[in-house]
Amino acid sequence: MPEIVTIVLDIVYAFILFIPAFVANPAAVITGGHYPIDAGRNFPDGKRILGDGKTWTGYFGGSLAGVLIGFILAGIFYISGFAGSLPYGRTFIEILVVLLAMSFGSLTGDVAGSFIKRRIGIQRGGKGALLDQWPFVLVSFLFLFVFARSFFMSYYGNIIGAVAILVITPPLHRGVNIIGFAMKKKDVPW
Ligand code: CTP
Ligand code: MG
Repeated sequence: MPEIVTIVLDIVYAFILFIPAFVANPAAVITGGHYPIDAGRNFPDGKRILGDGKTWTGYFGGSLAGVLIGFILAGIFYISGFAGSLPYGRTFIEILVVLLAMSFGSLTGDVAGSFIKRRIGIQRGGKGALLDQWPFVLVSFLFLFVFARSFFMSYYGNIIGAVAILVITPPLHRGVNIIGFAMKKKDVPW
């Protein structure tokens, strides 16, 4: 059944190559907490634009942690020959662009999710379900599509990889947050 093997391999590649986007979010919990992005301001609806849970130190710290992890992964792929040795790109600049798009996309999507949560009346830290879980994936995909299209098309353009990430992310996100809660890094287990 070579088709099954191909599909499983597509999913494994899609998932492992997306680790920087996954790492960016919990890293933001560690580096975050200073300088709210909305500077404390309200939206015309009278509610906070984003809330105190979205800060510049989280945004940049988390994104740069994603890039750093990405370079470590790139080194491991190169040494091990995983996914053809150079899945993120053939040059330093190509790899950097992929990792920046993926990681900053991840935390830009996280901000977008909070913006929507505030507009529909869920307060900071409230359970957003898919609004906590999908925007970071979707905006990461969008940034990759715009800034690193050939990488995006290779691993997520065939629908299988993209859908696999969207399906895997909610239980993964929940699991990571339960661990973060148990480690007292998060106040709530979501
Ligand atoms: N964090 C941050 N800056 C970011 C993202 C996260 O400082 N850009 C930190 C905040 O301390 C935040 C914590 O990580 O409280 C958890 O992140 P998240 O669950 O995304 O934020 P919430 O506090 O749940 O806020 P929201 O309801 O807006 O998602
Ligand atoms: Mg939250």
